[in-house]
Amino acid sequence: MLPKSPRLLAALDLLTEVRCLADVGTDHGYFPIAAVQSGKASRAVASDNKPAPLATAAEHIARSGLQDRIDLVLADGLSFLRVDIAAVSIMGMGGFLIERILDAADLSAVEQLILGPNNDHAAVRGWLEDHGWRIADERFVRDRGHDYQLISAVPGKMSLCPDERTYGPILLKTRNEGLLGHLRQKIAALSEARSLARDPDKRQELEIRIRNLEELIR
Ligand SMILES: C[S@@+](CC[C@H](N)C(=O)[O-])C[C@H]1O[C@@H](n2cnc3c(N)ncnc32)[C@H](O)[C@@H]1O
Repeated sequence: MLPKSPRLLAALDLLTEVRCLADVGTDHGYFPIAAVQSGKASRAVASDNKPAPLATAAEHIARSGLQDRIDLVLADGLSFLRVDIAAVSIMGMGGFLIERILDAADLSAVEQLILGPNNDHAAVRGWLEDHGWRIADERFVRDRGHDYQLISAVPGKMSLCPDERTYGPILLKTRNEGLLGHLRQKIAALSEARSLARDPDKRQELEIRIRNLEELIR
């Protein structure tokens, strides 16, 4: 059974076939279940740093009948990392928390990262750029009224400009429709704020931000 969430489906689409996936901050456990059920991962580790979400994941994994192929681990970040884990997914957390989890881990045996920060995307892409990772693919999805950027990274080199760190080098290059729509909405909201702003400095600051975004979607 595949997850109903467009965000988790997009993440599954990014995942390459691996022997073992570790899903950090798994909560409900739907992603590792889908990865194993779809055949993308032969095995998985579902980890969380809190017992309650892990208990939910355990229930869902038991219901899926995959207890013998998905291990449950109570751990902070990637402290449990093992050499057979070839892919790591970290989604549904803030960008700075994802950056902290990556920074504390020895990722030398990891071949793919699937990252879905809820915010502060620039921090995550900046970390990848500084630590020998290259963005191989990206997705932009709208799920339950929220816009999400998903990143697939593999070992390698890349160099990004500030806009690419924030909005994604591949999403920008391919003029991703979802991202363009998101930027148009942002421009509309900033234009509204500009029309209401009384302070000339604030108006000018908003004007610059609007112009930068207009430049990006041109
Ligand atoms: C909003 S849920 C995201 C669930 C799932 N990954 C998704 O994207 O749908 C965030 C989960 O991350 C867990 N979490 C937060 N900080 C963590 C950490 N340092 N290490 C492991 N898990 C963490 C929380 O307990 C929570 O279950």
